[in-house]
Amino acid sequence: MRYRAAPETAGQGRSIRLIHRQPAGLEDRGAVSRVVALLTHGDNVSEMMQRLGLADADWLDLSTGVNPHAWAAPTPPLEVWQRLPDGRDGLEREASAYFGTESVLAVPGSQAALSLLPYLRSPSRVGVIAPGYGEHSAAWQRAGHEVVPLSSAQLAGGAGTAFDVLVLINPNNPDGTLFEPQTLLDWRTGLASRGGWLVVDEAFIDAMPAYSVARHLPLPGLIVLRSIGKFFGLAGMRIGFALGEVALLQRLEEMLGPWAVNGPARWVARQALADRGWQERMRARLVQESERLGALLARYFPQRIVGTPLFRTVLTADAPVIHERLAREAALVRLLDRQDGLRFGLPPDEAAWQRLERTLDRVVEPAISRP
Ligand SMILES: Cc1ncc(COP(=O)(O)O)c(C=O)c1O
Repeated sequence: MRYRAAPETAGQGRSIRLIHRQPAGLEDRGAVSRVVALLTHGDNVSEMMQRLGLADADWLDLSTGVNPHAWAAPTPPLEVWQRLPDGRDGLEREASAYFGTESVLAVPGSQAALSLLPYLRSPSRVGVIAPGYGEHSAAWQRAGHEVVPLSSAQLAGGAGTAFDVLVLINPNNPDGTLFEPQTLLDWRTGLASRGGWLVVDEAFIDAMPAYSVARHLPLPGLIVLRSIGKFFGLAGMRIGFALGEVALLQRLEEMLGPWAVNGPARWVARQALADRGWQERMRARLVQESERLGALLARYFPQRIVGTPLFRTVLTADAPVIHERLAREAALVRLLDRQDGLRFGLPPDEAAWQRLERTLDRVVEPAISRP
C-alpha cells in the first residue's frame, strides 16, 4: 500500500555547545545561548557569523554531516507550486523502488516521524542507543515513556531485547557503529513476539544500502526511518520517509494531517530517488572522501577515529578546547553532546580541504600539548 504524503516543520532542534570567546557587544549568557541556538540550524550560520563580527564567507561549516555535494535539484514547474501536493505524483512509487518496500509514507523530514512515533504507543520501556541523535530520547521522554540509554556494547550483548521498544541508529550518529541487518532482524523477532517495536533510524545508510533492513518490510514491529537530507544533501527541503506496517503508517499519516510534505519537495525527491546513476557515483565519492578525511584527521589526532561515509568523529577528551579553537578560526565542527569527541563533515571543495588542513595545523597541536 502506498501513501499520500503531506506542512513543513521547524528545523531540527538539536543543541550544540560552543565555547567561544565573547565578541564585544554581546552580553554574557544571553549571547552564548543565542549563539548556541543559531548553531543548531545550518541556515543560521550566516546570522551567527554576523553576530560574531565575521563575514559569511569566512566560515568553514563542517558541523552537519549533510552531503556537501547535493543532488542538483531543478526548479519545479509553476503548477507544482500552485497546486496542493498530489499523492498520485509518483513519489511513493519511486520511494518504494529505492527502499525496496511498498510500505512507505513520505513525512516532512524523518525528524517529524521520530517525534510522533512515541504517541502511537501506551507507556513503554524504551531502550535508545546512546550516544546517538538526541532527538530520539527527547521524543520518547516527552511522550511519557521510560527511556533507558544503551551503549553499543550493551546492545551488542543483547540488552536491547528486554525492552518494549528499541530505538537504534544504523549506522550510528555520531560514532558510526554499524549493526548487521541479520542481528537487527533477530532482535525484531524477539521484540515483536511481545508486541514490541524495533525502530531503526537509517538517516546515514544511503551510502551503504546493503546494511538497510528496509527491504524486509513490512514486518510486525519493524519501523525504519529514512532521510533525504543527508545523502542527497537536501536537508532544507524537509522530506523523509517512515517505512513500516501499513496500519502504523496510516496512524502516523493521520497525525501528520493532509499535505504534510509540500509539493515542490515531493517533486524534487521523486527525481532524486530515481537518479540511480548519481546515487552510484555519489556512494563511491563519499566513501573516497570520507577516507581522505579520516586520513587527514589521523595526522592530527592519535585518538580513535570513527564514522560513516558522511562524516568522521574523533574521540578525544580535548574536544571542547579544540572545538573552541576551531571556532575562533571560523571552522565549525560538531562537539558531541558528551563533549568527548568532534564530528567533522566532508569539506565541500578542494579549497575547503586545504583550509581545513591549514586550520588544523594552527589549532590542534597546541590544543593537545597544552590542555
Ligand atoms: C540520526 C538522525 N536521524 C534523523 C535526523 C533528522 O533528519 P531529517 O529530519 O532531516 O530527515 C537527523 C538529523 O540530523 C539525524 O542525525
